[in-house]
Amino acid sequence: EKNGYDHFMLKEIYEQPDAISDTYRGRMLVDEGIIRMAGVEDNLEKFTNAKRIIIVACGTSWHAGLVAEYLFEDFARIPVEVEYASEFRYRNPVIYPDDVVIAISQSGETADTMAAIKLAKEKGAFVFGVCNVVGSSISRETHAGAYTHAGPEIGVASTKAFTTQITVLSLIALKVAKAKGSITNEQLHLHLQELSLIPEKVAEALKSNEHIELIAEKYKDVANFLYLGRGFNFPVALEGALKLKEISYIHAEGYPAAEMKHGPIALIDEQMPVVVIATKKGHYEKVISNIQEIKSRNGRIIGVVTKGDVAVRELADYVIEVPDTIEAFTPLVTTIPLQLLSYHIALMLGKNVDQPRNLAKSVTVE
Ligand code: M6R
Repeated sequence: EKNGYDHFMLKEIYEQPDAISDTYRGRMLVDEGIIRMAGVEDNLEKFTNAKRIIIVACGTSWHAGLVAEYLFEDFARIPVEVEYASEFRYRNPVIYPDDVVIAISQSGETADTMAAIKLAKEKGAFVFGVCNVVGSSISRETHAGAYTHAGPEIGVASTKAFTTQITVLSLIALKVAKAKGSITNEQLHLHLQELSLIPEKVAEALKSNEHIELIAEKYKDVANFLYLGRGFNFPVALEGALKLKEISYIHAEGYPAAEMKHGPIALIDEQMPVVVIATKKGHYEKVISNIQEIKSRNGRIIGVVTKGDVAVRELADYVIEVPDTIEAFTPLVTTIPLQLLSYHIALMLGKNVDQPRNLAKSVTVE
């Protein structure tokens, strides 16, 4: 069942090129600039009239929600709030009937996300689900939805669910943007074209596996890790840190790179590896100055960079290259090396990669 891989997690990491193309297949006509998603189409006015989108989710799905915040605001010009379902449900939130609530859940069974949906429905909002498991409770409870076609995700650490959630959310944001006229046909075409190239770019990113194994060997015994990113890659930093904690039990934190100087910089010394997502697209110069700040405090730098990068390579202890893509889609490639890094570190430490202690695949209790 693991298809020759040692663990489900590794298999699922490697399935991402196919999972992503399975998720957009049949949904986009690149040349025509058409995006077909019945759940969105049937409710298009709800989206185009929305004053606000509220995204509710937990864990990795919440991180996909944060990426979606950037996507919806950038493309569709709709303000977005991303909420932990557990906080949202208990705080008497302000919800208007013209809010669109998007619930994201791989399993479709997460108790807090389910409760958030019920609350939003009670208050009259339109609730849209992005689930992976067909027929799951959340997919049935929502008014409409779009599935990720990732196939079964068995490893407790979510991998292909994350990248396919971003794929679906990109398509929705682009479709709504087109309907609102907030994106030009040319831009739309460019993005669809680029999305169709993502599977091969993810496959290319996977080729760094052996190099990442060497980096894992080097840092597997540290007590802490820091992950930094800006813009679209800030949520990727959070996701990288979550992946490492959950399967290797090494403490890790993700931060927006610029927040470092507001506290976490105090942690930096020669014992502290800092994974910095520093692709050419999106605040590159700013990230380089963040890297300089780490270097001058003797922090160890692992840069996730665009192929052919020179500037970060000069400063970093290690770099991991990913193919170039447009800014909005960088999370789809930058996430890959972080998944592999966590996998190898956990494996080297002898941890149960697929079933980490204290965790369940779906959290059906609050
Ligand atoms: O099934 P869901 O997407 O609703 O699950 C949400 C979280 O429990 C889940 O993403 C969790 O954080 C993962 N174990 C992270 O890898």
